[in-house]
Amino acid sequence: MHLSKIARRRYTKGATPIEFLPNLTEELGGPRIHIKRDDLLGLTSGGNKTRKLEFLMADALAQGADTIITTGAVQSNHCRLTLSAAVKEGLKCHLLIEERVKDSYSEGASGNNFLFHLLGAASITPVPGGTDLMAGMQEIAEKITANGGTPYIIPGGGSNALGALGYLSCAEEILSQSFDSGLDIDHVVCSSGSGGTHAGLVAGLHGNQSGIPITGISVRAEKVPQEAKILDLAQQAAHLAGGHLEIPADYVVVRDEFVGPGYSLPTKEMTEAIQIFARTEGILLDPVYTGKTAAGLIGLIKEGAFDKDSDVLFIHTGGSPALYAYQAEALG
Ligand SMILES: Cc1ncc(COP(=O)(O)O)c(C=O)c1O
Repeated sequence: MHLSKIARRRYTKGATPIEFLPNLTEELGGPRIHIKRDDLLGLTSGGNKTRKLEFLMADALAQGADTIITTGAVQSNHCRLTLSAAVKEGLKCHLLIEERVKDSYSEGASGNNFLFHLLGAASITPVPGGTDLMAGMQEIAEKITANGGTPYIIPGGGSNALGALGYLSCAEEILSQSFDSGLDIDHVVCSSGSGGTHAGLVAGLHGNQSGIPITGISVRAEKVPQEAKILDLAQQAAHLAGGHLEIPADYVVVRDEFVGPGYSLPTKEMTEAIQIFARTEGILLDPVYTGKTAAGLIGLIKEGAFDKDSDVLFIHTGGSPALYAYQAEALG
């Protein structure tokens, strides 16, 4: 794989830490739980989109863009971080906000929505759930072009092959850290949403022949379509990076039973997971993504999916600003 040949901006100095979580490990009675602190990545408040944006923004700049357009849910971490990267690069940024849960958009809401305003989004356009978001972004792009601007569209979650390279690179970072520290990782658990994180990790862990199994915890979609989406995106990312190994379909594993009633809707297990991480390790998760992913990790531990004497790496993909918009859900 030849990531160094692909244009990239740098928004984080060095690697994010991999930390052992002794209190959580003891509380759950094993396996040994480690955490990849991607909540500590660069740009406003960190999180997984920062890695994807290193590649996506480099492409936007190479194409001479002066304006970025992207889309996400009402509390989108992706929109916050894309806007933050645009600010850093001196570009304007328009946000198309999908109200995935009816009547959930509120102009004055806290959390990421507050940050959209503070970071100076050029426009914030709420649209109903199910809207054709690509068509909506193209409409905004046409207006910008008509006014002499050069727009660049970043898809929801930054999850195209180029964005997924951010997590292919993260997989290589993890392998290098585990080699240096002597940590023998037996399993990786990550969030599986728009897919770039899970797909990039699959491409990187498989492409480097690590042999480490990975389970993606779905936060929205059902298992079968999500696995197909991840496999396709992982293949695309691997090819883009010059990888030659075909990814076997059974290397892509998604669990969907932790979604609960739907995307962003609370579950008892999510609330418990947020509280247990906060109260044993002082680590903040979010109710939409990492809270449900941690509920998945705990669920897998309870069903005996891991040997007690093994090392499991949980990928912390960020998202804590959304906590301030979901206080009741986090406190239960
Ligand atoms: C905090 C957080 N974790 C995980 C995810 C899911 O990552 P992906 O969209 O790459 O599947 C997101 C997506 O928005 C997120 O904001």
